[in-house]
Amino acid sequence: MSKPKLLLADLVSGVHHVPSNYIRPISDRPNLNDVEISDGSIPLIDLQGLHGPHRVDVIKQIGLACQQDGFFQVKNHGISESLVNNMLRIAGEFFRLPESERLKIYSDDPLKTTRLSTSFNIRTEKVSNWRDFLRLHCYPLEDFVNEWPTSPPSFKKDAAEYCSNARALALRLLEAISESLGLERNYINKQLGRHGQHMAINYYPPCPEPDLTYGLPGHTDVNLITILLQDNVPGLQVLRNGKWMAIDPIPNTFIVNIGDQMQVLSNNRYKSVIHRAVVNCNRQRISIPTFYCPSPEAVIGPAPLLVDNDHPAVYRNFTYQEYFEKFWNRGLATQSCLDVFLNSSH
Ligand code: OGA
Ligand code: NI
Repeated sequence: MSKPKLLLADLVSGVHHVPSNYIRPISDRPNLNDVEISDGSIPLIDLQGLHGPHRVDVIKQIGLACQQDGFFQVKNHGISESLVNNMLRIAGEFFRLPESERLKIYSDDPLKTTRLSTSFNIRTEKVSNWRDFLRLHCYPLEDFVNEWPTSPPSFKKDAAEYCSNARALALRLLEAISESLGLERNYINKQLGRHGQHMAINYYPPCPEPDLTYGLPGHTDVNLITILLQDNVPGLQVLRNGKWMAIDPIPNTFIVNIGDQMQVLSNNRYKSVIHRAVVNCNRQRISIPTFYCPSPEAVIGPAPLLVDNDHPAVYRNFTYQEYFEKFWNRGLATQSCLDVFLNSSH
């Protein structure tokens, strides 16, 4: 008898059918033939213009995208191609390490600040997801980098460099988003306490029956904004007007999306939109979201400047910790937990 496999990557080799615990009920399957192909319908914003006479135009584009789509792509974002390629390379190398090496940092405890795990929350979920993931806390770097994987050898150095660049990009986007809401440039920055930054490295192995399961089922992101780096394999889909739309990778761009906390801060002007990851028969896929977030003790609520008689505060104030615990205990439900924090006097 061989030991049961903890990680999907070690279970899938030679598997020709999706094991039963990964099979979704018929009413909850991806229906991959019923997906629209994105034809540039998610805005692609050139961040070059943020510095110079066109700043106002770019901020307008960002504001519109946050309002209408909740998602946009950015080019000329200031993170070099070689940094991005290094990040993707070490991510791939990590998931090719021998099982025994990877298992050294395996944990299904969501409180662990560095851990490799599988699916989403195997302690609570009924059906598993076709994904392994390495999750790292990234800010402040010096508090966490010691815990990070030591293999492949350049992991710490390359991932740390990627993280600090991703953070710089997040901060520029937060300034632009603040301005797009008519708030002071550093308004959002000041609401985040000590700030938090987490990174997931998602590994989706090829799947023999991709119509039966998800990489990640539909969800909104719990954090403030997400900056997603993906390799060249499609898989991300966004819900728009009740239809799933595939967002195919464009080289040298990132996908940016609004999370629940931004929806709250903007008093519902900006939307935290449902998205999912699907898998395919042929190719593994790697995606690397950077989740920028408040620190746990930060108090989040609608910006007072965005609240008036016509626009009453939609949410009550709460700490990010409070929200995060609700989110985690609920599991990755299609319903976000925003409704739990609605203003009761509303
Ligand atoms: C996520 C996510 C999408 C993807 O990790 O929250 O939505 O394409 N990932 O992997
Ligand atoms: Ni997500």
